[in-house]
Amino acid sequence: MEIRPRINRWTHSRRNLVFGQSIAESLVQPHFVVSGKGVNEQIHGMPGINRQSSDVLIKQISDDLSIGITSHMIFGVLEDQHKDENGTSAADDQMPLQQTVRKLKEKFGDQIVVMTDSCLCTSTAHGHCGLIQDGVIVNDASVDMLVKISLSHANSGADYVCLSDMMDGRVRSVRRAFEEKGMRSTGVLSYSVKYASSFYGPFRDAASSAPTFGDRSSHQMDPRSDYKEAILEAEMDVREGSDILMIKPGLPYLDVLREVSSKVNRPVAVYNVSGEYSMVMEHATDVENRHKMVVEILGSFKRAGADIIVSYHTREAVGRGWV
Ligand code: PBG
Repeated sequence: MEIRPRINRWTHSRRNLVFGQSIAESLVQPHFVVSGKGVNEQIHGMPGINRQSSDVLIKQISDDLSIGITSHMIFGVLEDQHKDENGTSAADDQMPLQQTVRKLKEKFGDQIVVMTDSCLCTSTAHGHCGLIQDGVIVNDASVDMLVKISLSHANSGADYVCLSDMMDGRVRSVRRAFEEKGMRSTGVLSYSVKYASSFYGPFRDAASSAPTFGDRSSHQMDPRSDYKEAILEAEMDVREGSDILMIKPGLPYLDVLREVSSKVNRPVAVYNVSGEYSMVMEHATDVENRHKMVVEILGSFKRAGADIIVSYHTREAVGRGWV
């Protein structure tokens, strides 16, 4: 089946919420959802960012909307009892992420954009972003599972399903599955250029997704690699039908962001990741100091060509009117 880019997905009014010209309009707030009720636990190393049960998160997003934050990225955190070798729970419609997305879309409709993280690392017992056979990640079986997870997110009403795994060919498979099931308005945001970075530490704690053995260097990119690989990865995702391309992390790869955004004709997102956030929060404990740093950092993403900025600083930056 031919995969056509659908310009409609970019221009549909609700999408415009995330393609802002200003920094404030470009920001996306990440969230971590857990099971239970009334849960609101602080994440080590990430002050201001909590793991929340669905009820608390929905209230949070409602408060965010009242101060003008319309775009949200949701990561589902699963308990050990829901993890297995194949990560099957991540595709279960009854898990906290899917339940939350359904409720959010019922309550807020097109007032907000909901992006969901589709990966295997939070649902596999081994914590890898793919399925393991004989000690190595197997690409194609992992893609089959990622399709199931992504379909379940789309079914719940996600506006964008975000593929953060870096398996080869997953964009094409997910896009094709969406088209076949008639989910033509669900967008695909692919992490196209994602490095095997040492800046993801606090996130892995937050999402309980650290690998129990080995690392992610078989599929994430080598931080020392040159622009050619970045451009190749980005162009492949465009051909496979991705609507938005993500560069990750942010600050150490501003040059890559500039290069990709100027060469590829798609909206480009950048992820200002957990380790970058922790550095600022640990250093700048006083608000005035932090204000200047955050404005400087977010401005650098915009200058380097980001259309969308995923950042844990979003709530404070918008809430205090810094951007
Ligand atoms: C995993 C995923 C990671 C992040 C987002 N999705 C971690 C990883 O690749 O190990 C990191 C985000 C952050 O550090 O804030 N699929």
